[in-house]
Amino acid sequence: MTSHTRRTAELVARDAASVWHPFTQQSQWRADDPIVVDRAEGMYFWDTDGTRYLDGVSSLWVNVHGHRRPEIDAAIVNQLSRLDHTTFLGLTHEPGIVLAEKLLADAPAGLSRVFYAGDGASAVEAALKIAYQAHAQNGPVRPLYAHVAEGYHGDTLGAVSVGGIDLFHRTYHSIMLKTRTVGSPGVLQPGQTRAERAAEVLVELAALFDAEGDAVAALVIEPMVQAAGGMLTHDAEFVRGARALCDAHGIYLIADEVATGVGRTGRMWACEHAGVAPDLLTCGKGVTAGYLPLSAVLATEALYDAFLGTPASARTFFHGHSYTANPLAAAAAIANLDLMAAEGTVARAAAIGDRIGALLAPLADDDGVLEVRRIGTMTGIEVASVGDRTGFEVCQEARRHGVWVRPLGDVVVLMPPLAMADDEVDVLVGTVTQAIRTVVG
Ligand SMILES: Cc1ncc(COP(=O)(O)O)c(C=O)c1O
Repeated sequence: MTSHTRRTAELVARDAASVWHPFTQQSQWRADDPIVVDRAEGMYFWDTDGTRYLDGVSSLWVNVHGHRRPEIDAAIVNQLSRLDHTTFLGLTHEPGIVLAEKLLADAPAGLSRVFYAGDGASAVEAALKIAYQAHAQNGPVRPLYAHVAEGYHGDTLGAVSVGGIDLFHRTYHSIMLKTRTVGSPGVLQPGQTRAERAAEVLVELAALFDAEGDAVAALVIEPMVQAAGGMLTHDAEFVRGARALCDAHGIYLIADEVATGVGRTGRMWACEHAGVAPDLLTCGKGVTAGYLPLSAVLATEALYDAFLGTPASARTFFHGHSYTANPLAAAAAIANLDLMAAEGTVARAAAIGDRIGALLAPLADDDGVLEVRRIGTMTGIEVASVGDRTGFEVCQEARRHGVWVRPLGDVVVLMPPLAMADDEVDVLVGTVTQAIRTVVG
């Protein structure tokens, strides 16, 4: 193991004595030589030993402009000087209003209302309940949700119910909401094209809706890229077909854009690749440029209307959080969206994606690389397994060369901040390519 400064060694020991990390096998934690992050700036962060790392996955898919962008720092400080926090239950405030307007101004057609939540999972949770309650208030109750294999929507129980990653989700099987699953449009049979696979899953979905559509409240999808499932990309026709089938059966379409949204795919929203607007769109992660937790559900006016009535009618959406629409988070999000507009960040993301694609083209021919999948900046390199934790070993090797990336099993993920410069993208891709060749051969 690498030697560390006394401060690092002490912090790791104290961490191990008191902290329980997410998605982490704690029995392995110290042996994996954890990085203690000390500070960050631009595309880099530094550990407590003073070692610098290029942030190759946007601090888990959240960062947009790099760390500590002065305009966003200033927006938060400025907001702090006026209002730290008040509840959004029965009160409102300017940052919450302005952010809603800005989100809607760029949203897919027909989305006209913003319901704030906290993290991605809580946005999904709210969307599931909105769909269910709207049906219940407009007509018969629909007790089922439809979703897609290999999907991931967060870790609260509703979100887990519509997830499809066995390793994460099967433990909770007996306490799930009632759901029906169709195959993943991103998991291909040998020789099959993505278009053929999309058509096959749509046939499955049509059969499901013919049989049980009257009981399905909503279909939940990750449009274009099933991210945590391994950056499984699919044909836009799947999103269009899903929309059409939902329309035919009066089922709400929930597009979970927590990972794909806010420019990550080279469009503001991944739904735009398909020219489709959902009934409910969930977003989080990049909304605040990676600064503070804030997520949202964007909804149609028809869904919003389904909740109107007298207080006594109990049509209210009885759902919310202590920190809903936190003003500091909203201020960060507003500054983020303003910067994105001023700097053409979405177009920049598309250009970064193209650059990653070109740089990775030679690697795709390596025997040890099974597939390179990418839409915009969202990139997954599936490597052949050469041990228990091949993806992890590749990331550890990249780390030794100053690049931090995190795998999904044996899929090495690249998801740089959307404002990363060309030379930094080159270092990211070059280092990861070399790491894959060192570990996988
Ligand atoms: C598509 C999708 N939905 C929801 C979530 C959950 O978001 P959070 O981790 O902020 O709860 C994620 C997280 O990766 C995600 O990728």
